[in-house]
Amino acid sequence: METICRLPLPFGEDQVWIDVIQPWLAQRGIDGEAMNIAGYVVSEMLNNVRDHSASADVVVEGMVGAQAVFVHVIDHGVGVFRRLADGLRLTGPREAVIEIAKGKRTTDPSQHTGQGIFFASRVCEWFCIEANGYAVTFEEGQEPIHLEFVNDAGRVGTTVKCRIAQQPRRSLRQVFDEYCPQPDIEFTRTRVAVKLMALADGSLISRSQARRLMAGLERFTEVELDFAGVAELGQGFADEAFRVWRNTHPGTDLRVLNAAEGVERMLRHVGFRRTTQ
Ligand SMILES: Nc1ncnc2c1ncn2[C@@H]1O[C@H](COP(=O)(O)OP(=O)(O)OP(=O)(O)O)[C@@H](O)[C@H]1O
Ligand SMILES: [Mg+2]
Repeated sequence: METICRLPLPFGEDQVWIDVIQPWLAQRGIDGEAMNIAGYVVSEMLNNVRDHSASADVVVEGMVGAQAVFVHVIDHGVGVFRRLADGLRLTGPREAVIEIAKGKRTTDPSQHTGQGIFFASRVCEWFCIEANGYAVTFEEGQEPIHLEFVNDAGRVGTTVKCRIAQQPRRSLRQVFDEYCPQPDIEFTRTRVAVKLMALADGSLISRSQARRLMAGLERFTEVELDFAGVAELGQGFADEAFRVWRNTHPGTDLRVLNAAEGVERMLRHVGFRRTTQ
């Protein structure tokens, strides 16, 4: 990776993009939709550093390969999971891991909507966010989006790494359309990989875990819970999410994707039948 820039805060992310990063990429042959996606992702991640990180500086690194562009946005602030844990009153960074998969989870609702990480992570071919001892990876290429969780302790700040295809499979517009349906084109649909919480927590058993999973999802009219990679659910967890939460949030259509046999059985047990594959 080559250092494209190292800048003190505050900065205007639009200016940094236009003056520094876009020309750097253009000189290396990036254009079209790849440039459009890079512009969105880099601007959003720079905005996050400026507004949320409390870092003194930001470093942007890049590399252009034959098939893809690699960009890293690195800060030395509080870390995304610590920031979310504090802002959302969670017990710590581990509990915050699932929050970046939901969308509309922001610690500054008067100035932000909680869209940047959600859309950036879904439009990249590969997107990884590391902070506070956790690294969460989003991979495109199969539906639903695959999420991986690894433990990587002892780092300060947040590092976002992304790979953007030179010939993207989906345009930025298509990704927005998927989660912002017609005719209102508002962000009303989300899909959450429940596996991320299972990996963070070890298992999905309790009512309090289910309450954490569902927190904030009432802001959507359509929620797809993707159970790929989850073998089993506890009865309390399933009852809390699929009976209690569902009954108290009738305005949200709750759907299930990729339920394994053990999950399906528990969903039936608590009276939830409407599943799609
Ligand atoms: N670099 C960072 N350092 C610390 N916290 C961060 C960082 N990036 C994101 N966050 C935290 O993650 C939350 C979600 O970020 P995201 O970009 O998805 O939404 P947002 O910035 O709040 O809203 P929007 O992107 O729509 O303006 C932020 O509200 C903030 O709490
Ligand atoms: Mg943001």
